[in-house]
Amino acid sequence: MADTNKPHAKPLVVELRPGNHAICTCGQTGNAPFCDGSHGGSDKRPEIVDVDTMPMNFAWCTCQNSDKLPRCDGSHRQLWDDPSKPPMKPE
Ligand code: FES
Repeated sequence: MADTNKPHAKPLVVELRPGNHAICTCGQTGNAPFCDGSHGGSDKRPEIVDVDTMPMNFAWCTCQNSDKLPRCDGSHRQLWDDPSKPPMKPE
């Protein structure tokens, strides 16, 4: 049974307004969830998210264990139950 007292690396949920947004995929940005150029020197590039007309909520993965980076896929919920996963980043 999972210890519900342990913290989880929850996603950062932001509202994206219509337009193009450069979303960080490297996890190093200082302006999460948006790319600030910190990926420089790596092979990572931001994902451009184009929001048409209606604002949308975007759940940015903070644990870097999502299979759908930069989007949260719920993998953070299993970090504490699977010791083989790498340590999570601070919230
Ligand atoms: S800062 Fe992370 S992709 Fe640009």
